[in-house]
Amino acid sequence: MKNAPWVLENRDENSFLINREAFISDDVLKLEWRKIFNTCWIYVGHASEIRNPGDFQTRKVAGRPILFCRDVNGEVRALLNVCSHRGAIVCREREGNARGFYCMYHGWTFNTDGSLKAAPGEDAYGPKFDRSTHGLTPAPRLESYRDFWFVNFDPDAVSLDEYLAGAKDYIDLVVDQSPSGRMEIISGTQEYDIKANWKLLVENSVDDYHIIATHTTWIQYMINSGVNMKRPKGLLLPSAGKGVDLGNGHLTTDNPNYRGRPVAKWISVYGEEAKADIDHIREELVARLGEARAERVANTNRNLVIFPNLVINDGSSVTVRNFTPVSADLMKVTSWALGTVEETKEQRARRLHAFLTFYGPGGFATPDDVAALEAAQEGYSAFREAGWNDLSRGMHKAPDDQLDTDEGHMRCFWRKWSQLMEAN
Ligand code: FES
Ligand code: FE
Repeated sequence: MKNAPWVLENRDENSFLINREAFISDDVLKLEWRKIFNTCWIYVGHASEIRNPGDFQTRKVAGRPILFCRDVNGEVRALLNVCSHRGAIVCREREGNARGFYCMYHGWTFNTDGSLKAAPGEDAYGPKFDRSTHGLTPAPRLESYRDFWFVNFDPDAVSLDEYLAGAKDYIDLVVDQSPSGRMEIISGTQEYDIKANWKLLVENSVDDYHIIATHTTWIQYMINSGVNMKRPKGLLLPSAGKGVDLGNGHLTTDNPNYRGRPVAKWISVYGEEAKADIDHIREELVARLGEARAERVANTNRNLVIFPNLVINDGSSVTVRNFTPVSADLMKVTSWALGTVEETKEQRARRLHAFLTFYGPGGFATPDDVAALEAAQEGYSAFREAGWNDLSRGMHKAPDDQLDTDEGHMRCFWRKWSQLMEAN
């Protein structure tokens, strides 16, 4: 399949190129399933989505149907939602609460821990039939960090804790917004397809270089709302953020707060009546975390990529965004709003407003992003003649000097991707 490398890095020339075939080839996608999605920790869901014993969510994770549930004893499970009898999908509802799961094909039933409860006419299997070997198969590994649950289909993978590396510090910044350290997924899901390769959304989620060109509608809206969007000389954005390598292919932007956060600033959008409320939140943060940490939590933004396909946009709201390839040129995106369990109705309303208006599929940003990604995907059809993406912005500078408008953090993703794809 492969004649040229997918990633061509020349440090002497400050050149970092991506072979456009990596975005369009079905063979590349096949390899990605095997070398990336079968070996990395893949996000499955948040603890708050299965709060009570018997709660369940059905998901597609790394191409497999997964039943993410809390069993009747309160233990979190990730079971392959595949009947041990003849393979039918067992639970066909999206979410709910159940005392057990019933397969509609021949009526086998399973307990919430996945064990087989009963098979109609079990006698016909003879005396050696062993229920204990006929349960739903669990994902080989299931671990969590601060209520974010991940599965791994490689039984020998490193622990999630080790895998997340520097990304943990940034997850902490998100979760520390809550006085009790508990966040929750807010009911209601955004789902949409993008006719583009899944890796383009990784790039786009942390690409602050595109903001001025792509998001003119949003910028105008911010200016009209009274937000200071003036750019200091030499900067593409109102303030200089960083692009940060977090290790193991994880990366983030780390920006001062010019975009505003629903529970911290952006009075101009939410009105003066929000001010007392926001001051109160700020006071709690300072009392609990100290001035410096409170400043970090409340007044900086981050778009965090957990390799390979989870993004946490902690900006004007907190959006948990997960995306999965369907084919080389199509992905399914699912996004949830995440909020503190303590917030009031008014705070929650502001958060949801921000969730919808910026990152939502009908918001100020996402439709323009989708258009840009689909335009890029279309352009890759000419890969034979115009074969390479240039991702070398800022490469002449030291790693610590990489701005969010540079492409250094994206290069971290591609180095990890390339390392896994080249591995035997
Ligand atoms: Fe599930 Fe037969 S396939 S009971
Ligand atoms: Fe964008």
